[in-house]
Amino acid sequence: MEQRDRWATKLGLILAMAGNAIGLGNFWRFPYQLASNGGGAFMIPYFIALFFLGIPVMWIEWTTGRYGGKYGHGTLGPMFYLMARESVKPKTALIFGVIGGMLAFSVSSLLSSYYYQVIGWSAAYTYYSLTGAYFGQDTVKFFLNYVANLKAVIFFWGITMVLLGIAVGQGVSKGIERWVKVMMPLLYVFAILLVIRALTLGSPVKPEWSSIKGLEYIWTPNFTALKQNFFKISLAAAGQIFFTLSLGMGIIHNYASYLGPEDDVALSGLATVSLNEFAEVILGGSLAIPIAFAYLGPEQAIKGGVGLAYMALPNVFMHMPGGRIFGAMWFLLLWFAGFTSAIATYNYLVAMLEEDLKIDRKVGTWVVFVFLFLLGLPVALDSSLVYLSELDMWVGSYFLVLLGFFDVIVGVWLFKPDNFWEELHKGAFINVPEWFKPIIMYIAPLFMAVLLIGNTKDYYSMGALRFHVSKAYVENVLGGSYPDAVPLVLRARIVILIILIIGAIEAYLAIKKKYGEELEKNEVIIKV
Ligand code: TRP
Repeated sequence: MEQRDRWATKLGLILAMAGNAIGLGNFWRFPYQLASNGGGAFMIPYFIALFFLGIPVMWIEWTTGRYGGKYGHGTLGPMFYLMARESVKPKTALIFGVIGGMLAFSVSSLLSSYYYQVIGWSAAYTYYSLTGAYFGQDTVKFFLNYVANLKAVIFFWGITMVLLGIAVGQGVSKGIERWVKVMMPLLYVFAILLVIRALTLGSPVKPEWSSIKGLEYIWTPNFTALKQNFFKISLAAAGQIFFTLSLGMGIIHNYASYLGPEDDVALSGLATVSLNEFAEVILGGSLAIPIAFAYLGPEQAIKGGVGLAYMALPNVFMHMPGGRIFGAMWFLLLWFAGFTSAIATYNYLVAMLEEDLKIDRKVGTWVVFVFLFLLGLPVALDSSLVYLSELDMWVGSYFLVLLGFFDVIVGVWLFKPDNFWEELHKGAFINVPEWFKPIIMYIAPLFMAVLLIGNTKDYYSMGALRFHVSKAYVENVLGGSYPDAVPLVLRARIVILIILIIGAIEAYLAIKKKYGEELEKNEVIIKV
């Protein structure tokens, strides 16, 4: 058997994993989640979720990925199958494989269909900052005009995708690893320069407005606000932990599958979490919100919502000394962050073709390109962003947690907790304390079960779980206009369904192909 590609250096691996986790989630999603969920109120459940959910699931995904890689797999279908068969018969294990493969494929492809668009926006805004295109204009209108300008949207999204294709086509050690080694250090440099700028803005507009006030809003624990909206804020915080750490997507597993069987996962997993959290709460937290606090005031900063990065901040850059440069730096930072994350889902899909269907990587890369382009078109074509919001409702928080839940069921319980613990410590540079085991075994899955139930209830009360698409749902949740938005919502749901079905079939075939004999006899034959 030919040798599978592996990370060439430890540094490259860590930067790739950090690049995977550090994304638009850190600099775009985190600030508005934080702002709209009470600032200091949000940070309390956020750190709780980080400890009881983020760290455990990160370790599980690294361990699962390295285990799958040993058998030559970088996708979830075969990985889950292999782990599940430690407790159940191959035929039953197949079911778990299909669920895992289906969810990971859906998340990787659907999330990419809109996330890549947002990366494209950043490319465009880098350019518009340098040229000062939005200076002196109504930045909300400017943004809405931009997303309605199909040519521009496709151009900036297109160059982003071509570059992604080039990086992924070169392979893991020769492509991805080399690209992140350049991009990640630059990302940190940009972020640090911007933070220095943000915190030295003073009070340019009103004496009572300053970036320090923004930091106070984030870092003053607000138990009263938390109590009032306990469930809503906690769900949002846990959802953010999943998103920002790239959990429940299949892409941490995939990157970990390119490790050697004795390479450390315990310390490396923790390093990924630490690098991401530094980039999120320290760097990400010191940018959008404090800048908006200084220039637009607390009220605007807090209600900036999804538009904080692309509508509110441009309004700041046009007034800031050196605004063109700092604006360009901010959007380029978003672009780098998004790009090094997008590589991971792209690679997942290529690995699927390469390993499950034996399609050459070079060819597979461009097959995925066409697939992702087609999947992204409905997003690009809908300037009301309703289609995007509906996808995000399902994929961005719900599917992730569902997949994370199966991570524990399969990677810990069916694989057997003692095997898991042993696997986690194979070649490990640190010992995870024994008392952390019950957190991984019981608390993390319980936490996710509560989240899933909470999200389901939430979706139900918002009207997302009904076949009939109501006016209230369209207007209040998706922010669209009523009858026009209905076909977009339905289109999103049909696409999700089709992708789920393809994912399930693909996983089934992949497992069948390699483990057909043991499925037939219904006993384990292949062991590495
Ligand atoms: N953790 C990433 C972030 O914070 C999420 C992510 C990684 C992602 N890779 C992705 C989202 C690919 C969509 C597509 O942004």
